[in-house]
Amino acid sequence: MRAPAPRWKTAFMHPAAKPLLFVLCLLPFAQLFVGAVLDTLGANPAEALLRATGDWTLRFLCVVLAVTPARIALGVPALARFRRMLGLFVYFYATAHLLCYAVFDQGLDPGEIWRDILERPFILVGMLAFSLLTALAATSPHRVIRWMGARRWQWLHRSVYAVAGLALLHFFWMRAGKNDFAEVAVYAAIVALLLGWRLQRWLRSKRRLA
Ligand code: HEM
Repeated sequence: MRAPAPRWKTAFMHPAAKPLLFVLCLLPFAQLFVGAVLDTLGANPAEALLRATGDWTLRFLCVVLAVTPARIALGVPALARFRRMLGLFVYFYATAHLLCYAVFDQGLDPGEIWRDILERPFILVGMLAFSLLTALAATSPHRVIRWMGARRWQWLHRSVYAVAGLALLHFFWMRAGKNDFAEVAVYAAIVALLLGWRLQRWLRSKRRLA
């Protein structure tokens, strides 16, 4: 007879696990919202909001990319239950980031935004990342997955790695003006590690089939 799974593993199947994670994912937004209302975001609250929402988009993206490696490495299949919600939180923070930019930086002027996209490559790259994320979020409902078919859906959703690459380039380009790459290097290392893990598994499965 197989030994029962340890308690920490079964906790991920608890009915309260998903609502709890939902609340946890909303905490950074709540903190920023309260900071904006109480005016505790520093001398330039608009910039603080823009930067913090950009940082949280990238952090959630790293968490989403880590779900499958963590599920396999730790032997916790239940972790897959949270991937869709975490992916939608990437989109939530990316939308908040884009809104901060459109409202505070560009005064919601479509002409100004268009000019900025053409003038500043890091904005163009951010927009490309956001467009891809929009396609991923739009195809996340179960009925769309059924309509697309698993293979096509999986193929499209692999572009989450392209989103990560574009997001890193966006961050790198933005920091290049300030010659400050320390944080970019940390995120790049995390994404490279997660991508490397996928690549190594894919190569191993190819070799097994050959
Ligand atoms: C997946 C999409 C995106 C990700 C992951 C992302 C991430 C980031 C990050 C990490 C930062 C730096 C924050 C910091 O300095 O701590 C940033 C800054 C910024 N992002 Fe994005 N971003 C994305 C999309 C966009 C889009 C679509 C736009 C606008 C069209 C945009 C405009 C900006 C601007 C204006 C800044 C601040 C530049 C400055 O302070 O000089 N981003 N973003």
